[in-house]
Amino acid sequence: MKTLKITGSAFAALLLSAGAVLSASAAMAGTPPALYTAAQASAGAAAYAQNCAMCHGADLKGGAGPALAGQGFAAAGAGKTVGSVFTMVAQQMPAGQPGSLSQTQYEDIMSYILQENGYPAGSAALVYKAALASTTPVVASK
Ligand code: HEC
Repeated sequence: MKTLKITGSAFAALLLSAGAVLSASAAMAGTPPALYTAAQASAGAAAYAQNCAMCHGADLKGGAGPALAGQGFAAAGAGKTVGSVFTMVAQQMPAGQPGSLSQTQYEDIMSYILQENGYPAGSAALVYKAALASTTPVVASK
């Protein structure tokens, strides 16, 4: 009886294909990317409560302004991106006082909106300039 010998390179190939399968299934499940830090989102929750909740609702479900979370905000196919949402937020909001918050406050509030749409926190911060230009899709997962 012959023993099955796995060479180093065959083993490496096995590991690589296992990794490819794992990342392909993550993409298929639609796991959203990490685009902000947990610290940004928690600061953003407070800034949102102070500057946005009176029109968009304490739970982001809408009021005088539209909902900012869920299927009514960013359904698949709605075509929203980090750049399109953040441009609206940073340049038009709060309605009546556009651009009145600091860049840090806008970054934090955007992070909070992403969190409430099912995006996970990660190790890299959301950055004002890059976020304005970002083509990463925003699709609510809850
Ligand atoms: C005075 C009420 C008011 C305040 C305060 C306000 N908004 Fe709005 N917001 C609106 C209204 C009304 C609209 C719809 C405007 C439009 O579609 O032209 C809107 C639209 C938006 C949109 C676009 C929604 C979509 O479906 O694309 C976003 C995002 C948004 N606001 C975020 C914010 C954030 C973040 C804040 C706090 C910094 C904020 N708003 C504060 C009234 C407000």
